[in-house]
Amino acid sequence: MSETLSINDLHVSVEGKEILRGVNLELRRGETHALMGPNGSGKSTLGFAIMGHPNYEVTSGRITLDGEDLLAMEPHERARAGLFMAFQRPMSIPGVKMADFLRHAVSNVRNPERKEGEDLLPMREFRKELRSKMEQLRMDPEFARRYVNDGFSGGEMKRAEILQLAMLRPKFAVLDETDSGLDVDAVRLASQSIAEIGGREMGILIITHHDKLLEHNPPDVTHVMLGGRIVESGGAELAAELHKSGYDRIRAAHPEAAAAEERLAQEEREAAEQFVS
Ligand SMILES: Nc1ncnc2c1ncn2[C@@H]1O[C@H](COP(=O)(O)OP(=O)(O)O)[C@@H](O)[C@H]1O
Ligand SMILES: [Mg+2]
Repeated sequence: MSETLSINDLHVSVEGKEILRGVNLELRRGETHALMGPNGSGKSTLGFAIMGHPNYEVTSGRITLDGEDLLAMEPHERARAGLFMAFQRPMSIPGVKMADFLRHAVSNVRNPERKEGEDLLPMREFRKELRSKMEQLRMDPEFARRYVNDGFSGGEMKRAEILQLAMLRPKFAVLDETDSGLDVDAVRLASQSIAEIGGREMGILIITHHDKLLEHNPPDVTHVMLGGRIVESGGAELAAELHKSGYDRIRAAHPEAAAAEERLAQEEREAAEQFVS
């Protein structure tokens, strides 16, 4: 069976509010898909639901990986099954060095039977692998001695995530706005690095506004999310169109989803007003 991450009619609520309203998406290993859409359309929510974040409640629908029910798995089991997500706003872990963090993460993913505190990947083997990946990504070896995301610039956080991706080598990766807050050169470097390590070996879902990130990762499929649904899918030319012309055409072509988007935005404004008054 070909390796596939499959999402069927997925509905997701956050704090009792329905955000995703029936998402369908099929990502095969070896493919790159771009997920685009205006702010608040539900792109990050889809990523969190795939990873199993507890605040994102799946009310109906299915997510399977190679036919296995992903929704029945805990987040760490999903990681072991071959999923990875790079977050829009990653957490910092002061006191934990990048290298130690990576050694634990890699050990967990490669040895699913491993109990906490046992059988870490041998230091020598791990170091060698880390060094070679950092060289490949043109990263300063010092970087591995810093605390995870602690005081990292936006660019460094993204580099840290790409290093995780290179070390963990998941089957499927969701990269959420790996370009946000980066200058053009940093986005280009990120794009190149993703192409080098992810290449055709992973299934990658790139959530992005920036066609620069797609420069070295031309999407096989581009999806457009609006109001909690994927309203259009196309090729790389669709990503280019959206980057150039924005979402007006999409909103006009999908009035029901545009109305849902407006409803959510309105609710948010009301919640914000309540909060200040
Ligand atoms: N943790 C959360 N708590 C409350 N509302 C949330 C949370 N995450 C997302 N939402 C709401 O879900 C909607 C979609 O957000 P999000 O998935 O972040 O969109 P995108 O990534 O496309 O910008 C927004 O209305 C947002 O306010
Ligand atoms: Mg987002």
